[in-house]
Amino acid sequence: MPDHTYRVQPGEMLLNKFEVIRPLGHGHFGEVHHVINRPVGRPAALKTIEVTDPTTHRAAIEAQAQNLCSHDHVVKIHGADVINGFVLIEMEFIEGGSLGDRLMQGFVPLIDGVQAVKEVLFALEHAHTRGIVHRDVKPANIMLAQNKAKLSDFGTIIQPHTGIRVTDLFYQFHAAPEAVNSGEFSPLGDVFAAGLTLLRVANNMPGWGTVIDDAGAWETDLRNGTMARRIGFKPYLPRALKTILRKACDPDPARRYASAAAFREALERLRLARRWVRVSDNEWICESTGRIEAVRYVNGRHPAVEFFSGSRRQLDLCGTFGTEREAREHMDRVIAETTMGHTAPSRRPRSNRNGTQGAGVSVAMADDIS
Ligand SMILES: Nc1ncnc2c1ncn2[C@@H]1O[C@H](COP(=O)(O)OP(=O)(O)O)[C@@H](O)[C@H]1O
Ligand SMILES: [Mg+2]
Repeated sequence: MPDHTYRVQPGEMLLNKFEVIRPLGHGHFGEVHHVINRPVGRPAALKTIEVTDPTTHRAAIEAQAQNLCSHDHVVKIHGADVINGFVLIEMEFIEGGSLGDRLMQGFVPLIDGVQAVKEVLFALEHAHTRGIVHRDVKPANIMLAQNKAKLSDFGTIIQPHTGIRVTDLFYQFHAAPEAVNSGEFSPLGDVFAAGLTLLRVANNMPGWGTVIDDAGAWETDLRNGTMARRIGFKPYLPRALKTILRKACDPDPARRYASAAAFREALERLRLARRWVRVSDNEWICESTGRIEAVRYVNGRHPAVEFFSGSRRQLDLCGTFGTEREAREHMDRVIAETTMGHTAPSRRPRSNRNGTQGAGVSVAMADDIS
């Protein structure tokens, strides 16, 4: 019988093999600890999952699926044991934590978020060729190794053509409407979840916060596949990215990217040029061709936006405005445009209501997702 009060403790030796160093995290199903596999002298991450039927190796489907999907962008499995009411999965130890942790720690530049999701789409493409659908694609299940993102947590996988699954549960908030309404699971569901993951990362949205705190309206969004529409886009996201996200998160599976590969290829074509970091509500910085660039909102009688490249003001991107709102909209447009590498102002600069002149950039106003 599983001992429900049992918890792995630092300093403990498990299976006469794993010395427990410290907890790394936990999710719905398991706890993960940093351990040292003493007989081979290897640091590892050990996931312990309590199971009701530990007498069969079927209990370790999660490990089998993760091993079946071995890939550069999937967290590597070293081994698994089924013992004393628990499945123990030994994995490569990834020091960088998850993309979910990164979002909690501070601003994640768009270029980094897109790169991580592209890499995870490689992993999903590979899993799908193995007949595996992940069903839990989200920032907390994307581990950040040195310069490499890796898909982890195969604890809710399903192999639709055999019906093999670990559990009937799946990650509701990123689930496609065909999964929520009719229990239909396919690679297209993972495309949808990867789209919502990227939307959350691009918006720098670590948790669901107020989105799901809204008298249950989100339940209708889940059924209609309109969570992305509810979340909306931050106004500084480039238009080309928004077009891609709309397609990835389309409630109609027939209108979505037809595969993880097609979604990834669309992101490859995006060619982001600047790694903007939002320092505060009033300032963004990045490094571009060896210079530090900065965009600042400056309050005053005529709210202004300043664009500095090194110590030089780049006049075509600066402007003064009649209202704070207009100035901030301009700052968002400058970030969106220059993220894509465009720096040329539109031919006819915009004039605002008060007649002060703002620099124009060549995109239209940031729009909403619908
Ligand atoms: N290989 C690993 N290296 C380092 N930390 C990990 C590793 N795997 C998981 N973690 C940490 O443990 C957390 C929970 O692991 P996960 O496999 O997602 O469990 P669950 O199925 O309970 O969600 C992750 O969000 C991450 O913070
Ligand atoms: Mg998890």
